[in-house]
Amino acid sequence: MSTTINMAGQEEPPTSRDARWSLKGMTALVTGGTRGIGYATVEELAGFGAAIHTCSRNQKELNERLQEWEGKGYKVSGSVCDLTSREQRVELMRTVSSAFHGKLDLLINNAASTLVKSATQHTLEDYSSIMGTNFESPYHLCQLAHPLLKASGRASIVFISSVAGSMALPAVSIYAASKELMVRTPLRPIAEPSEISSVVAFLCLPAASYVTGQVIVVDAGYTAGGFKHP
Ligand SMILES: NC(=O)c1ccc[n+]([C@@H]2O[C@H](COP(=O)([O-])OP(=O)(O)OC[C@H]3O[C@@H](n4cnc5c(N)ncnc54)[C@H](OP(=O)(O)O)[C@@H]3O)[C@@H](O)[C@H]2O)c1
Repeated sequence: MSTTINMAGQEEPPTSRDARWSLKGMTALVTGGTRGIGYATVEELAGFGAAIHTCSRNQKELNERLQEWEGKGYKVSGSVCDLTSREQRVELMRTVSSAFHGKLDLLINNAASTLVKSATQHTLEDYSSIMGTNFESPYHLCQLAHPLLKASGRASIVFISSVAGSMALPAVSIYAASKELMVRTPLRPIAEPSEISSVVAFLCLPAASYVTGQVIVVDAGYTAGGFKHP
């Protein structure tokens, strides 16, 4: 540890590299943590020491994941929630508030759904379900989490978006619209979930506290034209 003298000549508390690259003592809600990028994000954040709550619609799969994480020594709780339901989102945030004593440091809006269909084939139900999961839910979760995030005093929100939000992908038109509406974080179409979760973890770390309001493109150079999807 070293002592820092600020511009006013006062001694500042020692800063530790370990503390800047750690999530120890922090709490996180990761939506859709049972599979894919959400699963990898739970693992990454838990590996950095955070306590996490996650959710999905499948009780059996959720229980299996929770057991697996317990075996690894990670602090992860979970509850079933269909994020398309306003009432279930409210219930989810109640659970999170009670688990983390009214404070939340990290909200990771990850869960999403899509259907591969042409625009003319999409039904009203498809629209409600995809927009409900991908746009209405993260928006509402931010509102619900606001008092908890404020109580944290060091909170971050990360939205996982898609390259579909900035490119014409006719087979997933509703999904594309739902992703364009949010902060975009385009992803290479075929990426290992851990290639994304490591960037999510970085954004959550105290070391990245000055990175805010930014769109981080994680796509192996795809949108820059340097990567051709096979
Ligand atoms: N994979 C990619 O190549 C890629 C590319 C671009 C962007 N993304 C973005 O990355 C994020 C994760 O994608 P992924 O491919 O990892 O997804 P995934 O493997 O399909 O996993 C989605 C997770 O969200 C949960 N979920 C879906 N709908 C839900 C709902 N209504 N309520 C609660 N939980 C729900 C799923 O559990 P249940 O189904 O059991 O509820 C699952 O845990 C998404 O935001 C996606 O748009 C992914």
